[in-house]
Amino acid sequence: MKLSQVLFSQGFGARRECEGLILGGHVALAGVVCDDPYFEVEPEGLSFGVRGQAWPYRAKALVLLNKPAGYECSQKPKHHPSVMSLLALPLRVRGLQPVGRLDEDTTGLLLMTDDGALIHRLTSPKKHVPKVYEIEMIDPVTAKQIDELRHGVILHDDPLPVRAAAVEPTGEHALRMTLLEGKYHQVKRMVAAAGNTVKALHRSSYGVLSLPQDLAPGQWRWLDGPQSVLG
Ligand code: URA
Repeated sequence: MKLSQVLFSQGFGARRECEGLILGGHVALAGVVCDDPYFEVEPEGLSFGVRGQAWPYRAKALVLLNKPAGYECSQKPKHHPSVMSLLALPLRVRGLQPVGRLDEDTTGLLLMTDDGALIHRLTSPKKHVPKVYEIEMIDPVTAKQIDELRHGVILHDDPLPVRAAAVEPTGEHALRMTLLEGKYHQVKRMVAAAGNTVKALHRSSYGVLSLPQDLAPGQWRWLDGPQSVLG
C-alpha cells in the first residue's frame, strides 16, 4: 500500500492532506523521515510516526476509553461533550463509535471501534458478553434486593423478568453486578425495580477485559483486537 493511502485509511485527513503531511517531512518509518507519498509499505504490523507520535496501522480500530462522568456517548450530544472529543483526531475522523452506551454520569470501561460487525458481536444479547458494574446505592443494600436482582425484576419494556448473571455485595451501600445484555439504563432500572436507587455507577469490565488501573479517566488505549475482549 502507498504511504499516503496508509495515512488516509488511518484518519489523517483527505488524500491531499495526507500527501502534504508526507511531502512536508512529518511522517517517519522506523524513525526515518519518508517524504515520498508513493512509497510502498506492507501495512500489516506497520508502525509509523506522524509529527513525532507513533501510530500502529489497524485495518479496524478498537480502543478502550476510561470514560469520565460528564460526557455523553451520543454523536450529537445535547448537554455535555461527546466521548468522541476524548479521542485523538484521526480516530474521530475514522468514525469510531461507542460499543453500546454508558449514561452521562456513568464512568469506566467504554469500548470504541469503527468495526460495525464487532459492535454487533459485542452488543447482541444472544452473544452473552458479560459486563461488570460497580454500583453505589443511596439506601443500604438488603438481602431481598440482592435476591430480586438475581432472580429477575420486571422492567416496563419487557414482559419477562430481567436478571443479573451475578450479584455480589461489596459494601453496605454497594454491589457488583454482572449483566449479559445492555438494555437502556438497565442497571438503574433494575436497581429501582428492586427498591433502591443508584447513586454512582462504574463499569469495571467488559468480556474478559478489565479496566486497567493505570488508565486515568479521560484516557484511551489501543486494544490488539476482538480477542482482547472476547478471549
Ligand atoms: N446501566 C445503566 O443504567 N446505565 C449505564 O450507563 C450502563 C448500564
